[in-house]
Amino acid sequence: MSTLPDVALDQLFRTARSHYAWLDKPVTEDALRQVYELMKWGPTSANSNPTRFLMLRSREAKERLRPALASGNVEKTMAAPVTVIVAYDLLFYEKLPRLFPHSPNMRTMFATNPQLVETTARRNSSLQGAYLMLAARAVGLDAGPMSGFDNAKVDEEFFGAGDECEGCEQEFLPAGHVRSNFLCNLGYGDASKLFPRLPRFEFGEVCSLL
Ligand SMILES: Cc1cc2nc3c(=O)[nH]c(=O)nc-3n(C[C@H](O)[C@H](O)[C@H](O)COP(=O)(O)O)c2cc1C
Repeated sequence: MSTLPDVALDQLFRTARSHYAWLDKPVTEDALRQVYELMKWGPTSANSNPTRFLMLRSREAKERLRPALASGNVEKTMAAPVTVIVAYDLLFYEKLPRLFPHSPNMRTMFATNPQLVETTARRNSSLQGAYLMLAARAVGLDAGPMSGFDNAKVDEEFFGAGDECEGCEQEFLPAGHVRSNFLCNLGYGDASKLFPRLPRFEFGEVCSLL
């Protein structure tokens, strides 16, 4: 393994920014599939992969999201080519026999401990959301993460118990056991609208070598 070239490190980290304004350039389904095919390899505990990604592209879908958004996030979200609801499935452990087959006890461990389910699902969906952002940057997209929204409203609107989703293939959608974590706009960012980069800590301020 070797360090990536500087151009890649810049694209992933050093010059990558959180974006709030978007160029008028669509994001194809193929690009979204490329992002998923990279991000899915990021690690999760017990290979649980609890994250579910609802990718809103249509005007109609965005309008369903609008009432849940903090006022400061409305314009940037409505203008973004894609808004991903990064969510987690509280029944993720039902898939463990497939995803973690060498350890049959793992499913039972989660099925009998709702607190562990919640903690695991939140932790790993945050991680997978971060993998999503880095994968998006890796394929030339920009990301704009947001936690300024009403989770309960999003959950009711998109993941409500008994909420039928006609034509949906995904069994997680209408089930009432999925919760939103954060939102992430994806698109090609308009760099001319960025404000100056905010500071970060130096290594010695936040890292301790023991
Ligand atoms: C989980 C998360 C939630 C965020 N929520 C919001 C938000 O609700 N609205 C917003 O404008 N920016 C939001 N941000 C953007 C941050 O302010 C931004 O990532 C940070 O200032 C670093 O900016 P930079 O990536 O351009 O250096 C959020 C970022 C993250 C990771």
